[in-house]
Amino acid sequence: MRKSLIIGLTGGIGSGKSSVSAIFEELGAPVVDTDKIAHALTASHGTAIPDIVSMFGAAAVNEDNSLNRSYMRDLIFSDPAAKLKLEGILHPMIYRVALQSIASHRNAAYILLVVPLLLETRTYLPLTDRILVVDCEETQQIGRTMARSQLAETTILRIMSQQTSRKNRLQHADDVILNHGQYEFTRQQIIELDRLYTQIYRNRSSSEGERG
Ligand SMILES: Nc1ncnc2c1ncn2[C@@H]1O[C@H](COP(=O)(O)OP(=O)(O)O)[C@@H](O)[C@H]1O
Ligand SMILES: [Mg+2]
Repeated sequence: MRKSLIIGLTGGIGSGKSSVSAIFEELGAPVVDTDKIAHALTASHGTAIPDIVSMFGAAAVNEDNSLNRSYMRDLIFSDPAAKLKLEGILHPMIYRVALQSIASHRNAAYILLVVPLLLETRTYLPLTDRILVVDCEETQQIGRTMARSQLAETTILRIMSQQTSRKNRLQHADDVILNHGQYEFTRQQIIELDRLYTQIYRNRSSSEGERG
């Protein structure tokens, strides 16, 4: 078996990354989601918790030994260096777990690697064979994010201003999923991409086979 294709999936906040990955998973594609990894690392008794307690003290965790997210959000707001310290703990762990997870799926034709800031941080770009961007109108990003979370519109706009522009994202894309319509429309595009990625993998494997 040849190396799986790694598809870097990205998109702005509320564009539909999680929804799209869920549909790929239904089709049987393995998904490695860096947001989910971060969440697991900071959930109750997560791997990152001991380092977080050493760095920030017991107040940074809840009674169930999970990260106290509102405490950390307030701390970061008043002390920007705290953000870098937290990232210093989390980012290398997330990267390690992502690599392990990719390795565990190496029999698959392709693996989706979901990285919200794929183009901004560039850490994960060297791992990817193709970039898949989930796209919708910015007004939809705002509306959907507000509908699903407690975030105020100003907060969402600030997050969007810290992310790369829609235009830049689309310029870097090898493939784009237009997620501005019904789920069924999105699903059809995903079925086509699933075929494309499987085909690329097969072609690559057979041409490597010819060379021996
Ligand atoms: N095509 C769509 N139609 C309607 N709602 C959608 C669509 N795609 C995503 N949503 C909803 O918008 C919100 C944001 O989608 P999500 O997949 O969580 O985005 P992301 O992971 O990129 O932040 C979710 O509540 C999701 O259910
Ligand atoms: Mg998401």
